[in-house]
Amino acid sequence: MAADALFRPFAFKGLNLKNRIVMAPMTRSFSPDGVATEEVAQYYRRRAEGEVGLIVSEGTGVDRPGSLNDRNIPRFHGEKELAAWKRVIDQVHEAGGVMAPQLWHVGAVRSRDPEWNPEGGYDSPSGLSSPGKKFGEGMSEETVADAIRAFAEAAAHAKALGFEAVELHGAHGYLIDQFFWDGTNEREDAYGSKGLPGRARFAADILKAVRKAVGPDYPIIIRISQWKQQDFNVRLAHDPKSMETWLTALTDAGADILHCSQRRFWEPEFEGSDLNFAGWAKKLTGAPTITVGSVGLSGEFVAAMGGEGSQPASLDELERRLERDEFDLVAVGRALLQDPEWVLKVRDGRTDELKSFERSAMGVLY
Ligand SMILES: Cc1cc2nc3c(=O)[nH]c(=O)nc-3n(C[C@H](O)[C@H](O)[C@H](O)COP(=O)(O)O)c2cc1C
Repeated sequence: MAADALFRPFAFKGLNLKNRIVMAPMTRSFSPDGVATEEVAQYYRRRAEGEVGLIVSEGTGVDRPGSLNDRNIPRFHGEKELAAWKRVIDQVHEAGGVMAPQLWHVGAVRSRDPEWNPEGGYDSPSGLSSPGKKFGEGMSEETVADAIRAFAEAAAHAKALGFEAVELHGAHGYLIDQFFWDGTNEREDAYGSKGLPGRARFAADILKAVRKAVGPDYPIIIRISQWKQQDFNVRLAHDPKSMETWLTALTDAGADILHCSQRRFWEPEFEGSDLNFAGWAKKLTGAPTITVGSVGLSGEFVAAMGGEGSQPASLDELERRLERDEFDLVAVGRALLQDPEWVLKVRDGRTDELKSFERSAMGVLY
C-alpha cells in the first residue's frame, strides 16, 4: 500500500499540516458534567504523537441550554470547561499536533436520557425533530440571535486558547443542518422561506459572526452533509447548481474549508461523474475540502455503531482521488478511534498491523 499523496504537507491560512490526514470529530462522552478530563487530554495527545495532521475534537457544546443532550459531552464555554480544553490543547501542542474544536449544537435531536430537559426547551427552526414530527415551537428571532452569539463566542475562545482553527458542526441533522433542511425548517422569515439561500442564512450568519470574532486570517471549517441521521437518503442539493447555491452562501459568509461528510467516500455525488461530495464542493466553490467516510475500513460507521465489525481495507481508491486533487484532506474516524498509531502504520507500510474496528472500542479511550 503506497500512500504518498496522503503524506504531502498542506498549508492554508497559517494552518501548516504535515500530512493530509484529519482525525474526524467523534463524540466520546468521557467528560463528566461537560469538563474534559486528563484522560481525554491524553487521548488527543496520543493522536498528535501518532502524527495525525489535524485533529478535530469531538463535538463540543456552545453556550445555549439545549446545545447538548448528554451530560458527559464536553462543553466549550464556562471557566472549568475552557480550562480543561486548555489542558487538551497544551498536551496536543507539546506532542507537535494541530487541533480544531468542533463547535456543536444538537438542536432538536432528543436525549436518550428521559430526564434531560434543557431550560427553555430544545432549540430548533420549527419545533420539528424530523419531517412531520412536531414537538414544540421553533426558535424566536431572539433565540436565533443568541445561538449565533454562542457560536461566535466559542470560536473566540478557541482562538484565545491556541487552537489552530475551528470547525462548525453543520451536518448530520443537528441544529445548523435542521435549518438547511426543508423537512425540519418551515420558517417563513428570513431564516427559512426562500429556499436554500434562506435556509442557509442561519449558517451564514453564524459564519459571519465567527469571522468577526476570530479575524480574517483564522481558518474556519464547516462540516456539512447531504444525509441526515433522521433520513440517510435526504439530499439538500439534487444537482450541481443547487449545491453551488448552498455552498457559496457558506464560503461568501466566511467558511474557508468545507468538510463534506459521506458515509462512504467513494460514492459519486451526481450522475455522470465519479466526483464525490468533497470533489464537487471543491469544484463549485474553489475552497479546499475534506472528504470522509469508511477510509481504511470495510464497513461504514452507522452499521458499526449498531455492532457490525469493519476490517482494514485498501487505500488505493483514496490515493487515486487524492492524487488528482479531487479534495485536499481526508478525515479518518473509527480507524483512529481504535488505533492512535494508524497514521504511522500507513506511512510505514505496516499493513499487517492495522486493526479491525469493533464497537467495544467506543467504550474505551485508547
Ligand atoms: C463514535 C463516533 C462518534 C461520532 N461523533 C461525531 C461528532 O461529534 N461530530 C461529527 O461531525 N461526526 C461524528 N461522527 C462521525 C465521524 O466524524 C465520521 O464522519 C464517521 O465516523 C465516518 O468516518 P469513518 O468511516 O472513518 O469512521 C462520529 C462517529 C463515531 C464512530
